[in-house]
Amino acid sequence: MKAENPVIDAITTRRSVRQFTKEPVSDEAVDQILESGLWAPSGKNNQPWKFAVIRDLTLKEPLAGLTHSRSIIQGAAVCIAVFLDHTRVYDRTKDVQAAGACIQNMLLTIHSLGLGGIWLGEILKNKEKVAKLLGAGEDLELMAVVAIGWPAKRSGAGERDSLEKRVLCRR
Ligand SMILES: Cc1cc2nc3c(=O)[nH]c(=O)nc-3n(C[C@H](O)[C@H](O)[C@H](O)COP(=O)(O)O)c2cc1C
Repeated sequence: MKAENPVIDAITTRRSVRQFTKEPVSDEAVDQILESGLWAPSGKNNQPWKFAVIRDLTLKEPLAGLTHSRSIIQGAAVCIAVFLDHTRVYDRTKDVQAAGACIQNMLLTIHSLGLGGIWLGEILKNKEKVAKLLGAGEDLELMAVVAIGWPAKRSGAGERDSLEKRVLCRR
């Protein structure tokens, strides 16, 4: 069962990219990435996300200083901070799951455009500082920062457990 399927190909060939060239990323590409985030499923279709797009060095530098992944942010052409919008939430677990779906949609679109991206979570230890830096109000809670650029090198094949290891039962 190996028919060509662009969605499955994108899912399996997407890898985290942590090193980027200096080539710029267009606003058009960024809009396409954000748009893909918007199309993620969410409970009751509440769309509990809000985005901040960060290109400016005056923001990127202090943002980089808030994570061990400093050099990734410094090397990225653009970063997107994804927030959970507390004015729209109705069930924390479901809303956080929706934010995750939104981020994965963006990563897959980044990959499909030939760009590279990385989901940065370690920065969450400083989520309040990130929110303040980006002028986000009390209602916005950082879920992740996605760093984006043109990949500096080819990614490897990646590794995952076998299905046998991860399927509890089939009856
Ligand atoms: C919730 C979450 C948080 C992550 N945080 C970081 C991070 O802070 N720094 C980093 O380099 N990678 C981070 N990653 C990327 C993972 O390390 C990566 O997805 C995983 O190793 C699998 O590799 P792949 O994406 O290339 O398939 C994060 C991924 C997720 C889903």
